[in-house]
Amino acid sequence: MILQGRRILLALSGGIAAYKIPLLVRLLRQEGAEVRVALTPAAEDFVSPLTLAALSGAAAEQHLVLSHGGRTSWNNHVHLAEWAEAVVVAPATSNTLAKAANGLCDNLVLSIVLSAKCPVFWAPAMDLDMFAYPATQENLVRLRSMGHEVWPSPEGSLASGLSGTGRMVEPEFMLRALVLHFASRPFWLGKTLLLTSGPTEESIDPVRFVTNGSSGRMGEAIAAEAEQRGARILWVRGPLRRADRTWTDAVQIVPVRSASEMHAAAVKALPDADVVIAAAAVSDLCPTSVRSEKIPKSELSATINFEPTPDILQDLAKRRIPGQVIIGFALETGEGLSSAKNKLVRKGADAMVLNYETEQTGMNSSTNQITLVTESREEQGPLETKAQVASRILDWVERFATKD
Ligand code: C5P
Repeated sequence: MILQGRRILLALSGGIAAYKIPLLVRLLRQEGAEVRVALTPAAEDFVSPLTLAALSGAAAEQHLVLSHGGRTSWNNHVHLAEWAEAVVVAPATSNTLAKAANGLCDNLVLSIVLSAKCPVFWAPAMDLDMFAYPATQENLVRLRSMGHEVWPSPEGSLASGLSGTGRMVEPEFMLRALVLHFASRPFWLGKTLLLTSGPTEESIDPVRFVTNGSSGRMGEAIAAEAEQRGARILWVRGPLRRADRTWTDAVQIVPVRSASEMHAAAVKALPDADVVIAAAAVSDLCPTSVRSEKIPKSELSATINFEPTPDILQDLAKRRIPGQVIIGFALETGEGLSSAKNKLVRKGADAMVLNYETEQTGMNSSTNQITLVTESREEQGPLETKAQVASRILDWVERFATKD
């Protein structure tokens, strides 16, 4: 986890988008970051300091001067600014960013921003006319010229009821931007992963189809890990059998149902890919024809004929553009190594991820145990979560592509 132990200070000013910051605190904490929060006096009207304190696990700081039990003390903004490895001003109102751009400093948030030696990120949030106002635009340019990073302000509906540019970027965007900022391994930045995952469904008639027990969990873990590492993901995904999570714009999902749809979508995406991971449990057979009417039960066994589905992985490897890294999965039940090696050669992949169908591994389980099989060697991993397996696979891709 790239944000593990990173110290991030969230500075809120008084905009309605402040209601989204508790979610950002949660997302950052889930990624292992340490989070502290400071608010301008106006921000308190939009979100409760108590909520932010409870979620961040530290007091939400609001004042430069503290009065408690008849004693007055000075809240040392310099310590907070020194503590932080990144300061995120979100929502950043036109007032707060104008003050910072001009070196004004009349509250705790501004004192922190002016004292910070670490990178400062701005998430402007305001009505469209305030955003377009020439002085606001000049202030944003000024902040950038001073080395601050200003995040975009997407277009859309605004709290005023108007529609235009000025919305705050979503917490998921901010999380991703911070992950990219702290990513120590730049391998995946700017790279595209083509991923197939999930089962396929091959129609027999309007109500029946052939499928398998794939949950799509392994593919989901690979997509999440690649997203974390800064890749763009073209994800050709078979029918989802679990609740979906929120993905950032880096993840482009192409939903498909049958093997032939998956094949067509994957072939279309291939020219854009640097890395291909075929994690889908593609149905081996599909009916030779799909009946438009439900087949009577008594005629079923006599009417259905099957033919093989296209081997997507094999076809992608045939169409490989030099430099692409291609990985497949081999799910086995008995002794699987020789089978995985055969598949490696037959399909033309660079590596096969050998795994077994058991209670704790394979389809539909939360854990897995893999052996990465290549032409020259086998690397066996321990029983681990699918997230750890995904990380192991992407680490292997990095090593293979950079030939360490
Ligand atoms: O031959 P087998 O189904 O065991 O091969 C598994 C690997 O091949 C997986 O990576 C799977 O995604 C891929 N595959 C495919 N198209 C098929 C069958 C398998 O891409 N029709």
